[in-house]
Amino acid sequence: MTTVDLSTNIAGVALKSYLMNASGPKCTTWEELEVVAQSASSAIMTKSCTMEYREGNPEPRYSDLPLGSIQSMGLPNLGYKAYLEMVPRLKALGKPVIVSISGFSIKENIEMVSAFQKSDVDLIEVNFSCPNIPGKAQVAYDFEQVESALAALTVLGDKPIGIKLAPYFDMSHFIAMATILNKFPVKFITCVNSIGNTLIIDPETESPIIKPKGGFGGLCGDYIKPVGLANVRAFRELLDDDVQIIGVGGIKNGVDAFEYLLAGADAVQIATCFEKEGEGCFKRIEDELTAFMVKKGYTQLSDAKNKLKPL
Ligand code: DHB
Repeated sequence: MTTVDLSTNIAGVALKSYLMNASGPKCTTWEELEVVAQSASSAIMTKSCTMEYREGNPEPRYSDLPLGSIQSMGLPNLGYKAYLEMVPRLKALGKPVIVSISGFSIKENIEMVSAFQKSDVDLIEVNFSCPNIPGKAQVAYDFEQVESALAALTVLGDKPIGIKLAPYFDMSHFIAMATILNKFPVKFITCVNSIGNTLIIDPETESPIIKPKGGFGGLCGDYIKPVGLANVRAFRELLDDDVQIIGVGGIKNGVDAFEYLLAGADAVQIATCFEKEGEGCFKRIEDELTAFMVKKGYTQLSDAKNKLKPL
């Protein structure tokens, strides 16, 4: 049987496959993380954590949509110390562990990154793009704050740090962000987070379909795939070669994953599809990607990675 080598690495951390879960759905509790470990996800990625335990936003705060979902979870999580304590048990499950942190200030991010720098986690993803906390702007849209945060966060230890970015929609923003990222030893970016502050209205009830923030929430799934692809592509062209890219946004089958590979992704994350389908999605998408690459005569990721052909 012809097969395809889907192994990759992020910042020197070997990953058995190109597909992993995204920080977001079903990765908050120990039980959920155990399920991720048992799936074909190549890493165990945790829900973004904060200084303290959070209940999150009032319900309803998530809704499936025909082509994706809208969510305003409000960072429900166990608090970073719980994840810190979990690290040895997570590591014992046999896969690289990536922790996502989402402090409400540079000071909080410094405290959490410092703590995880001393732990056994493999990678640290700092979330600069949660759109769902009332009164808190997305750091990723404030370039000055991104620069000061990176200056502080990239000197705290040797463990590789990456940044989860919001989607950008203007070439000047890609350039501004890439110029900042290239100044610091950021090892990877993860793009894109959900498109923040979108509104879905139910015409029957004449209300928004989720409760927090007057119905404003992050749009996910198929709707955002072209945005995710464009962000991966733009950053691949603008970032130094040693900054790797994890693509995320609307990947629900092997062909979607392949398109992200052409755009330049080194690995991809699955969020909405995992939420809707459950952990079987990782193996299904892996098999579909393998079959599609076999059909093309490709045997490894590098055969197609960053090889989008000009028209
Ligand atoms: C949440 C949503 C996000 O898009 C994110 O990056 C972090 C947290 C949330 O609402 O929980």
